[in-house]
Amino acid sequence: EVWNPNGKYRVVSTKPMPGTRWINLLIQNDCRLEICTEKKTILSIEDIIALIGDKCDGVIGQLTEDWGEELFSALSRAGGKAFSNMAVGYNNVDVDAANKYGVAVGNTPGVLTETTAELAASLSLAAARRIVEADEFMRAGLYDGWLPHLFVGNLLKGQTVGVIGAGRIGSAYARMMVEGFKMNLIYYDLYQATRLEKFVTAYAAFLKASGETPVTWKRASSMDEVLQEADMISLHPVLDKTTYHLVNKERLAKMKKEAILINCSRGPVIDEVALVEHLKHNPMFRVGLDVFEDEPHMKPGLSELKNAIVVPHIASASKWTREGMATLAALNVLGKIKRYPVWFDSNR
Ligand code: DGY
Repeated sequence: EVWNPNGKYRVVSTKPMPGTRWINLLIQNDCRLEICTEKKTILSIEDIIALIGDKCDGVIGQLTEDWGEELFSALSRAGGKAFSNMAVGYNNVDVDAANKYGVAVGNTPGVLTETTAELAASLSLAAARRIVEADEFMRAGLYDGWLPHLFVGNLLKGQTVGVIGAGRIGSAYARMMVEGFKMNLIYYDLYQATRLEKFVTAYAAFLKASGETPVTWKRASSMDEVLQEADMISLHPVLDKTTYHLVNKERLAKMKKEAILINCSRGPVIDEVALVEHLKHNPMFRVGLDVFEDEPHMKPGLSELKNAIVVPHIASASKWTREGMATLAALNVLGKIKRYPVWFDSNR
């Protein structure tokens, strides 16, 4: 699909993206925009090299693509100066390779914070109250009357939520669970989490002053402390060498037998084979997963487990957010072409 065929700058988007604002932004700024409408979901390196062609000023790409040496050298040969991932995560992008070929890299933080945190909260509630199992039960025609034991789950109020990675998304999730459900909080991050700390301090003081049930909160000095103390844990780190298989067999064993684990960050943060084994041997342990180690595949056995809720990497999938991500991605590419700053930020 080609927009503004006579535009001076050639910009390629490897996928159609939601909304029209991003399209207007590019075509009103003298770009010829080419949107790849190829049916297959994941484009290969060869497919993308063909899209880049001989002349290309910038590319908007997706997290399913492997942006390394080959693609950045092809983009640079075509005169390209900018690449934006339509995602906040950039583990699919070799930033050193981009620097080597003089290509600026952008990502799309901020606009997906609340949407992603809301999905993490949705999975938390769905797992705690066994909503998916209960839905399947109804649809199978198995409901034959109210029973005291039917789908008994956990009350969140007064339980402890653990957050690993207190950047934007982790902090927004923590706020939702503390403020919305009166959970106690324990969190772990290598860096300062000033905004989260200010919020919980002020909120705890407010509850005390208004005579409501207080919540407690603390910053853990190790990740294991969170694993041991929390009833529900949500993972929000960046995926890199240090966080690959952060949750492994040993760490799963440290968690409470009836804990709930949520992952809306990146699949390889959890050793998924170890997780499947853990779920099989601990039927009261539950997970809510938005991401998987080898997307789009799940490790064998995962899809059969009743104590796992699985959704297809949709944490940022609200209309407002996806349109915002597309707009930011277009701004990033345009910014470089027009010499404005490109937004690249490593704090999820
Ligand atoms: C991201 O932005 O990194 C998400 O995984 C997709 O929205």
